Amino acid sequence: MSKRRVLTGIKPTGSPHLGNYVGAIKPAIEASRDANVDSFFFLADYHALISCSDPLRVQRSTLEIAATWLALGLDPERVMFYRQSDIPEIPELTWLLTCVTGKGLLNRAHAYKAAVDANAAEGVDVDAGISAGLYMYPVLMAADILMFNAHAVPVGKDQVQHIEIARDLGQRFNHIYGSEYFVLPEAQVDDNTATLAGLDGRKMSKSYDNTIPLWDEPATMRKLVMSIVTNSQAPGEPKDADASHVFSIYQAFATPAETAAMRKAYRDGIGWGDAKQALFERIDRDLAPARDRYRHYMTNPHDVEALLLRGAERAREESRPFIATLREAVGLRSVAKVAAAAAKAEQSNDALQPELKQYRESDGRFYFKLAEKSAGVLAQSIGFANGKDAGAAIARIKRGEGAIANGELVLDGAAVAYVPDVVDPADASTALDALVRIEADAQARKQVQA
Ligand code: TRP
Repeated sequence: MSKRRVLTGIKPTGSPHLGNYVGAIKPAIEASRDANVDSFFFLADYHALISCSDPLRVQRSTLEIAATWLALGLDPERVMFYRQSDIPEIPELTWLLTCVTGKGLLNRAHAYKAAVDANAAEGVDVDAGISAGLYMYPVLMAADILMFNAHAVPVGKDQVQHIEIARDLGQRFNHIYGSEYFVLPEAQVDDNTATLAGLDGRKMSKSYDNTIPLWDEPATMRKLVMSIVTNSQAPGEPKDADASHVFSIYQAFATPAETAAMRKAYRDGIGWGDAKQALFERIDRDLAPARDRYRHYMTNPHDVEALLLRGAERAREESRPFIATLREAVGLRSVAKVAAAAAKAEQSNDALQPELKQYRESDGRFYFKLAEKSAGVLAQSIGFANGKDAGAAIARIKRGEGAIANGELVLDGAAVAYVPDVVDPADASTALDALVRIEADAQARKQVQA
């Protein structure tokens, strides 16, 4: 139970490449073997809908990505591996969180802001072509994370803001509904994870069109490897391994001993053709067994489906009771039990719900009193000639500007109310503090912005 929970969502869009493998998949699978962590991996297919409206592509991509992680060694018995859309509690939680999300907070989310800025630069309506799905992306992601009370979320730098938003929403919900329902997650950014160079030497990325797909036929992969850019040094010339992308990619796959040997080969003048052939063979050695497993899953998609459904069943053993707790917390409850709930609420209110109330006496003057249902009047004000002055004093006391001293409630050095003799001034002071805190909480609740 006290194990550290690590949760990652994988958006099923497109086909994975070597950069994804080295930079994300391999380290995540290795980390999931740590006996001290509980790992959650899921296919974020609801998220995929935001950028893709081709149903077949969503479906195919979900299969490909699931098969990829399984083929590369993710153990579905040991980790939680599920498909987001198999967990109906996630969209339900998304709504509960939506209702505590400041619209202004989402206005400031990077992906939305970037889309708005691009529209502004083009001189079109700032929200042109932007779906509410894109706008809501961070809330759905927060639901993914908070649903399973993850402690850590390994992400790239571009996702850090999303984790901060998840923290923020979790905290806000906990605060509003008065209990620690959610664990507040932390982003885990690994600065050491390699970014792999692509065919042109820039970071391997689909947006640069310089990738080597993970599951291409070996012959295709060899051809791509042979097309990696190099300098024009001839065979026999000593080469600087550290200046070569062919070498850096090799290093990402090889053991330290293999890397050292290859470094020597560069110094000894290995030709680029041979260096690339060695790179291809090294990658292929790593991927060949996984490639067979991948093919197996792709030709037996029923196996993948069964694993995903089984994973969802396990995940829902947690999400189902948890959403029930959350529904209860926000008041989505059986109406049959309303009387009991009201009594309970009353009870907890009575205990420490101080009030500052204004009223008018028969003398025509305006008064207020600090009172608590269980303790009665804790401070009684002087008479004010008009209601506005009494109201102003109340507002300032609620803001925390008043203090109890020597049996008086003092504002700006002047007594505006007196603690009755029968009351311990310490109790009045405690009630005043509670009042100020409750007011501050109510303000925070009203404030829509983060
Ligand atoms: N937004 C993530 C990405 O684009 C995918 C994702 C969705 C995710 N839900 C998540 C990642 C929850 C971590 C945790 O990569």
